[in-house]
Amino acid sequence: MKVNALWSSALAIVPAALALYENGSVIAPCDSPIYCYGDLLREIELARPFEDSKTFVDLPTKRPLDEVLEAFSQLERPIQNNTALTEFLQEYFGEAGGELEELDRETLETQPDFLENVNSSTVADFVRQVIDIWPDLTRKYAGASDDCDGCVNSFIPINRTFVVAGGRFREPYYWDSFWVIEGLLRTKGSFTQISENIIENFLDFVEQFGFVPNGARVYYLNRSQPPLLAQMVRVYIEQTQNATILERALPLLEKEYDFWVNNRTVEIERGGRNYTLNNYNVSNTQPRPESYREDWITANNASYYNEEGEVFEAPRNLTEEERATLYSNLASGAESGLDYSVRWATNPEDAVTDTFFPLRSLNTANIIPVELNAILYGNELAIAEFHRRVGNFSAAKEWANRAAERQEAMTAIFWDEEHYSYFDYNLTSGEKNVYILEDETSRETDTEGAPAGQQVWLSPTQFYPFWTGAAPEDLKNNASAVRRAYARIEEELDAKAGSISASNIISGQQWDEPNGLLNSPLENQDGSDEDYVWTQELALRIAQRYLDSTFCTWRSTGGSTPEFPKLEGTEESQNGTMFEKYNDNSTNAAGGGGEYAVVEGFGWTNGVLIWIADVFGQQLKTPECGNITAADVESEGDKKKRVTFSTI
Ligand SMILES: *[C@@H]1O[C@H](CO)[C@@H](O)[C@H](O)[C@H]1NC(C)=O
Ligand SMILES: *[C@@H]1O[C@H](CO)[C@@H](O)[C@H](O)[C@H]1NC(C)=O
Ligand SMILES: *[C@@H]1O[C@H](CO)[C@@H](O)[C@H](O)[C@H]1NC(C)=O
Ligand SMILES: *[C@@H]1O[C@H](CO)[C@@H](O)[C@H](O)[C@H]1NC(C)=O
Ligand SMILES: *[C@@H]1O[C@H](CO)[C@@H](O)[C@H](O)[C@H]1NC(C)=O
Ligand SMILES: *[C@@H]1O[C@H](CO)[C@@H](O)[C@H](O)[C@H]1NC(C)=O
Ligand SMILES: *[C@@H]1O[C@H](CO)[C@@H](O)[C@H](O)[C@H]1NC(C)=O
Ligand SMILES: *[C@@H]1O[C@H](CO)[C@@H](O)[C@H](O)[C@H]1NC(C)=O
Ligand SMILES: *[C@@H]1O[C@H](CO)[C@@H](O)[C@H](O)[C@H]1NC(C)=O
Ligand SMILES: *[C@@H]1O[C@H](CO)[C@@H](O)[C@H](O)[C@H]1NC(C)=O
Ligand SMILES: *[C@@H]1O[C@H](CO)[C@@H](O)[C@H](O)[C@H]1NC(C)=O
Ligand SMILES: *[C@@H]1O[C@H](CO)[C@@H](O)[C@H](O)[C@H]1NC(C)=O
Repeated sequence: MKVNALWSSALAIVPAALALYENGSVIAPCDSPIYCYGDLLREIELARPFEDSKTFVDLPTKRPLDEVLEAFSQLERPIQNNTALTEFLQEYFGEAGGELEELDRETLETQPDFLENVNSSTVADFVRQVIDIWPDLTRKYAGASDDCDGCVNSFIPINRTFVVAGGRFREPYYWDSFWVIEGLLRTKGSFTQISENIIENFLDFVEQFGFVPNGARVYYLNRSQPPLLAQMVRVYIEQTQNATILERALPLLEKEYDFWVNNRTVEIERGGRNYTLNNYNVSNTQPRPESYREDWITANNASYYNEEGEVFEAPRNLTEEERATLYSNLASGAESGLDYSVRWATNPEDAVTDTFFPLRSLNTANIIPVELNAILYGNELAIAEFHRRVGNFSAAKEWANRAAERQEAMTAIFWDEEHYSYFDYNLTSGEKNVYILEDETSRETDTEGAPAGQQVWLSPTQFYPFWTGAAPEDLKNNASAVRRAYARIEEELDAKAGSISASNIISGQQWDEPNGLLNSPLENQDGSDEDYVWTQELALRIAQRYLDSTFCTWRSTGGSTPEFPKLEGTEESQNGTMFEKYNDNSTNAAGGGGEYAVVEGFGWTNGVLIWIADVFGQQLKTPECGNITAADVESEGDKKKRVTFSTI
């Protein structure tokens, strides 16, 4: 294996120097003048040699760093997307992702025994074909493109095989990997070991950096993502019944938890008491390197050009301090994994009406998110359980107490009895963000506590406390209370044909309508009455809808099974596509909107599908796609036009 000399020696001597670079007013993800901050990065990204800002920061160099910097200083100013820049890039940089290698398919086995329990042979066949995508997404790090002392790249070296998300996401991502692992552990064969590798790679990151970065690139070293590593370890042990991994993992999971406590904590005074909760809050004063141009425009342009080409002048320019805060909020939005959603924006109508920079009013760090705290509750419980397993009962008790305290804080700060749901807390207003949507932005249904013709903001994140168990006993284990809380999800399923959307506000941002998102909230309900049956049926309905969306879209893009031959009009070479997101009002269209073209692949979509097929396999029906036709698959050119921002 070729290991990049500069990185390996840097790692050996001063590992801490890699994370968070601070110098005067500059706070950047790392100390790389190519990949993290500085004139070269700014000038090249603003000249825009590639449609996607991420492409440039994924290029490994072919020459030592100092030669690259020297050659760049010789280029004529201003830097423009011209022949000189093209030649410079060709001479000094390799291919995006050139430091990674695919694995030989023949060496990777799958053994998905659970498919024997899937009733519908069509569903089983479909899922088997999706399982066969894993080898295409499996990679290992191969080092720099040439054996070259002093060449650099932005990949954070990891020495174990891993699975990438797909498309422009050429590296492992943090929270995606949770759903990926749910799928890999059920795929079995070689993928049990690869699941462990993915976890071990993340544990390496905790060892090196004290936290798990957003993804395995140095430009992500100032931010994390929803912290699901403890949950990965939990499902790994559940599925393999092998807890040996705890020996290494347990102290490192505690170390990762400390990062959230030390770097991402807020205190909220309420009713004469202080509660401690966590937020997304990245130290950063620079555009995100992988979305450099987009962030720069958000913070610096004097006018906003909307989709129709209308121009909206900014009343004033942002001050340097305001820009720094905005860059921090942009990175914090990315840390949430839900970038971007109008839930982080002070002026959501900018995005909804498309009349001003949708992200200029971001207030991410002041929004205390329900789902992050629900996940941390789940981690506290998981760590308590791990301690119990290894016989450390006093530590187990301590962690269980932490979970109990958080549960109490979440009820006090997030729970809204009137609308019977959890809502984010807004530090700026000192209140919960309970948005009531008007007719223009929502469909007409009456929901609990909302006036007729209006609707309460709905997002799957509001249901995470049921998934991770952070909801109190009398709520989560009481089927009639669960039924009342989930009534809004049922309305959503009744009103629309697709999978559950990430939010019911139409804003053009990628995590809002119409992109589907499913979590698994209804697994652990006790009880036996009518309400219990209702919750189980709803869970199945969500699962079936997710299956229908993925299957019908896959068919319309060329997928086939023995019972359902290839649709007329789909290309011979096309085998059916799995997307990152799905439409919420149709079961045969991918989701759209947001910062980059909808990505094919796709790790977490496949992982959730496999999980559903295992958990609900006996009850799932063969999807009915109605009168579907071949999808109008966009050409590369059309796709590129839609790339307005880029991030994960
Ligand atoms: C800090 O920034 C100054 C001005 O850009 C530069 O001269 C100096 O080398 C930087 N220091 C470090 C440690 O990067
Ligand atoms: C920059 O120039 C190259 C080479 O001419 C071209 O392929 C590319 O599309 C240009 N970039 C943009 C964003 O137009
Ligand atoms: C990966 O690197 C670590 C640290 O250098 C080493 O301890 C470990 O054995 C390596 N693992 C593999 C699979 O090569
Ligand atoms: C976390 O906080 C510590 C101590 O304040 C700081 O040194 C470190 O840079 C922070 N880490 C990140 C990634 O922001
Ligand atoms: C359990 O996992 C460890 C690594 O975490 C591995 O070395 C060991 O072989 C596994 N045991 C079994 C029985 O598979
Ligand atoms: C809450 O914390 C703040 C700041 O740390 C402190 O000033 C205040 O006295 C605390 N309130 C209570 C009720 O403990
Ligand atoms: C904002 O700054 C630009 C130059 O950076 C300047 O041309 C413009 O007049 C400024 N706009 C306002 C409203 O001050
Ligand atoms: C938070 O509260 C402030 C002050 O009331 C308000 O302007 C803002 O829209 C609220 N929401 C967000 C996401 O900041
Ligand atoms: C489609 O599937 C066939 C048969 O499994 C395979 O030979 C072919 O390479 C696949 N095509 C693509 C584009 O993956
Ligand atoms: C969903 O699609 C149907 C059929 O195309 C359409 O009539 C309806 O208005 C759509 N609903 C929403 C909320 O977009
Ligand atoms: C699934 O198959 C099993 C065994 O053949 C059968 O008992 C069960 O009723 C079937 N379920 C459905 C929903 O068809
Ligand atoms: C199915 O859709 C196609 C294209 O929209 C249409 O031409 C055809 O009549 C439809 N068939 C039925 C049975 O509805």
